[in-house]
Amino acid sequence: MDDYPEINRASWDDRAPAHAASPDYAVERFVTEPDFLSQVVRFDLPLLGDISDLRGVHLQCHIGTDTISLARLGAQMTGLDFSPTALAQARDLAERAGADVTFVEADVYDAVSVLGPESFDLVFTGIGALCWLPSAERWAATVAGLLRPGGRLFIREGHPMLWTLADPRPDQLLAVEYPYFERDEPMTFEDQGTYVETDVVFENNRTQEWNHGLGEIVTALMNADMTITGLAEHDSAPWNALPGQMEDIGGGEFRLIDRPWRLAHTYTLQAVRRA
Ligand SMILES: C[S@@+](CC[C@H](N)C(=O)[O-])C[C@H]1O[C@@H](n2cnc3c(N)ncnc32)[C@H](O)[C@@H]1O
Repeated sequence: MDDYPEINRASWDDRAPAHAASPDYAVERFVTEPDFLSQVVRFDLPLLGDISDLRGVHLQCHIGTDTISLARLGAQMTGLDFSPTALAQARDLAERAGADVTFVEADVYDAVSVLGPESFDLVFTGIGALCWLPSAERWAATVAGLLRPGGRLFIREGHPMLWTLADPRPDQLLAVEYPYFERDEPMTFEDQGTYVETDVVFENNRTQEWNHGLGEIVTALMNADMTITGLAEHDSAPWNALPGQMEDIGGGEFRLIDRPWRLAHTYTLQAVRRA
């Protein structure tokens, strides 16, 4: 498992340019519409509230669409990711969109040493971020280390129950296939595709991933000197997680067609660094 960063980075390096070129990320709208926000951040707005003038860091910022959206809401944003090709797309988009955002290449677990302790008022992350990290405890310590006392974490993430589900089956049953709880051993996948519309053929298709139970994430944050201030579970996700079994409900959100109340699709968790 020690080589998981190289394995996963190769997959992300392949996919980032295809994501930037895909209609799903709508990057050109950031260039042509000065007020355009990503659908992810638009969904977050009611819980996110006013972030103007906050020093914010977006962990695992990918091609920067959410980071730029947060900057457009008035935060002074830094985006961090370990994929140089994702950051090349992010920097190019920020320049073309006239957004003043700093992008830094680093592993999440090195974020405190690279960006400095207690340097931020806001840590923002999520939507396919935690599954790339082996330890929720190390992630929570990183978040707490980046925040000044009183600073705030905002994460909307795929629900760990959603991550346990098998690929859609012909009988349409939702089958629990993968671990709910964090395990030392990664889940290793070979997947030639990605989560956006694209014709690009990728070369690096192997990934190593982990699930983290909701209780494990909450407990890890509490153990890292964070006070939980909000936990909301949602009946939609901003990607088509179960193709054929989900419908597009608008606003970039997808929901189970059949009795969606059976499944928490995503959650928003907020916490504040104790003084
Ligand atoms: C699904 S994307 C995050 C998506 C983001 N919410 C978005 O759509 O823009 C996951 C990102 O995590 C980054 N990543 C994965 N493991 C990482 C690590 N150990 N350190 C830093 N970045 C990592 C990948 O390079 C990728 O850009």
